[in-house]
Amino acid sequence: MCPMPIGFYDDWVKSADEESKHFNLVSDCLENMGSHYGAMAAHAGMWRAAEDTKDDLPGCLAVVPMVLEARGLDVTPGMITLFEKAGEQPIVDALNVIYAEEVGHVGYGSKWFNFLCGRDNLDPRDVFHDLVQTYFHGALKAPFNEEKRAEADLPPDFYWPLADDLPPRPGLT
Ligand SMILES: [Fe+2]
Repeated sequence: MCPMPIGFYDDWVKSADEESKHFNLVSDCLENMGSHYGAMAAHAGMWRAAEDTKDDLPGCLAVVPMVLEARGLDVTPGMITLFEKAGEQPIVDALNVIYAEEVGHVGYGSKWFNFLCGRDNLDPRDVFHDLVQTYFHGALKAPFNEEKRAEADLPPDFYWPLADDLPPRPGLT
């Protein structure tokens, strides 16, 4: 594969820095509640996707930021509401930081995925659908956070056709 521009590395170093901050925010919340990271079972979907796509950069961008991190944008507002109702303000504050910064991570995915498709003169929507069907097992789950996905340059015609638990929206194939 041709070398990537320096901005590609800048974006992902920034993302990694923010992810390490997110880990510390969540870890602190757990410890303040008398628990710790690793005390509860968690899925390894992100790690597994990174391993599955380690030799396929467009595949990695399609699945890790543009599917899995985008899913975080869908579910985090509901989590924030739950913790607000429970009066857990430190957790609400941590989740608000994570929520705001994850929009950027999805945006980096979209930006560099589109860059790679443009460099090879490929239709990014078609390539996205092919790669998600190759590496992501199962349908995408609606409802989607269309507003935040749009902020991250992830258009509805990328993700709606891959959601099979609701009828397709008119005009989208
Ligand atoms: Fe992220």
